[in-house]
Amino acid sequence: MAPKNNNFGNNFTDEIRNRLSIVDVVGRAVPLTRKGPNYWGCCPFHNEKTPSFSVNEDKGFYHCFGCGKHGDIFSFVMETQHMDFIQAMKELADMAGLKMPERNPRPADVVQRENALFQVCDMAATAYSEQLFTPDGAHALEYVRGRGFTDEMIKKYRIGYAPKNKFIATRFADTKKEYLIGSGLCRSGDYGLYDFFRDKLMFPIFNARGNIVAFSGRSLDGSEPKYINTADTEIFHKKQTVFGFNFARDAIYKNNRSIVVEGQIDAIKMQVNGFPETVAPLGTALTEDHIALLCKSNRNITFCFDGDKAGYKAAQRACGIVMPFLRDTSDVKFAFVSGGKDPDEIIKNGGVDAMQKIIDDAMPLVEFLWKITNENFVVSTPGGRVQAEKFLQAELEKIQDVDLRREMEKEYAGRKFNEWRKWKKTDDIVKIKLPDVDTLTRNTLVFIVNTYPELVERYGDFLATLNIDFGGNVVDLSMDQAQAEKYIVSLKLQRYLERLNIRKREITAQMLSGGDADELRAEMAGVDADIQKAQARLEALVNI
Ligand code: UTP
Ligand code: MN
Repeated sequence: MAPKNNNFGNNFTDEIRNRLSIVDVVGRAVPLTRKGPNYWGCCPFHNEKTPSFSVNEDKGFYHCFGCGKHGDIFSFVMETQHMDFIQAMKELADMAGLKMPERNPRPADVVQRENALFQVCDMAATAYSEQLFTPDGAHALEYVRGRGFTDEMIKKYRIGYAPKNKFIATRFADTKKEYLIGSGLCRSGDYGLYDFFRDKLMFPIFNARGNIVAFSGRSLDGSEPKYINTADTEIFHKKQTVFGFNFARDAIYKNNRSIVVEGQIDAIKMQVNGFPETVAPLGTALTEDHIALLCKSNRNITFCFDGDKAGYKAAQRACGIVMPFLRDTSDVKFAFVSGGKDPDEIIKNGGVDAMQKIIDDAMPLVEFLWKITNENFVVSTPGGRVQAEKFLQAELEKIQDVDLRREMEKEYAGRKFNEWRKWKKTDDIVKIKLPDVDTLTRNTLVFIVNTYPELVERYGDFLATLNIDFGGNVVDLSMDQAQAEKYIVSLKLQRYLERLNIRKREITAQMLSGGDADELRAEMAGVDADIQKAQARLEALVNI
């Protein structure tokens, strides 16, 4: 096992662990298949033919039931690549796209400093809470109660009030200046330290372990910006911090999903109204790190952004960010708020039921990606379709699970065929209607269409006459493109022959019922010649 680092705060090995999934790390060296909650493969540490090597994604451990080897991503890389801990950390940092810190991670003085900053933030939160219930904070208390916050909620989320003027700078004058500045609570000016948050409703921001690392302050007098957040500090990295995660963590695990909303007030309202698995990014900019953190427990995320243009944009961005995290078991959805601006208003106006309905009606990612592809490009033109396909392809290429990527490609190949190519049926072909194709033929064609797009381009007109739904399940067949093409051409000839034979019977009937004999006989001769030609082509095709 890798050495455990019990230091307080963000450390580099934790960051690597947050970023990487053990299934990805082990999966690079050992082919793994998921069975039940674990992934299985043949143990790289001893010789075996049947898999007894299991990998548990949630816990981040592997365990071999054959030889008893056990460990995490660090020990796996150390042992399989014969590296020491630092080398393995470098390797994994690379995989995670992280830069190794200059010095060895987290020397004692850094840890001590971090703890001091946690303490300053915590003391400040306590002081802000007190202020909320003083006459100075009366307008803030009135405001927050007006927004539907109970005293219990105020206490749980440690909501407070930052007074006007120098509050922290005065109250904590005895605290080391560097900590007051380092925590982002105070800044240094011409007349000494002054407070960053003044006359704000204060929401503490907790890290995953439940330490207060920063604050978000809401303006109370209508001034802009509406919210100001602590700038990044040694203990606060906005891009990696998810608001509400410390409270939501257990629920995300238990309910087997997370809900992501835009605002922190939305997250709080959701958490206390039956959606404890809700979190919010800080500001609307969702990052890969935010998703990586949520994906630690499971990969089921419902995004529920505001019902305005910005919210819709954010949802599209989220879709692009979440793609690399998708697995065959992932359930990623997009809920759209309507009947209010955001979840807070939905709950206020329509209650929990209205919110529940919005979450229940969320659109699966497959659907959403298709929707935005169609909305963002003019798919009624060839050029627009090229752009749309490029966009879609780029999104699908982000998927790391190869099987899932292939399946998604097939899914969209079917949709592109069904919805984009509105093949024209020529009069000639539809004149005589043939019965629908049988199931075997249908399955074969669905496979072909979803596997060989070139054939779709070439034989689309014909395929469209068969009235088949090319979406849905694709049966896997072993048929190369040449065989597939032969299959289509022979089917085309067979259908043509059937039509000619039907026409032949019709002509006979018309002759018997007294139609123009000469004309009918001439047509019959033509049909017979066509039948012969078609038969010859069919035989030639089958004999190749
Ligand atoms: P919104 O503008 O949707 O605000 O921003 P909201 O959450 O509905 O706020 P209330 O309900 O009016 O109080 C969504 C989120 O974007 C961030 C905040 O985290 C906010 O919750 N934000 C917004 C900022 O960081 N700064 C701003 O000026 C505005
Ligand atoms: Mn709001």
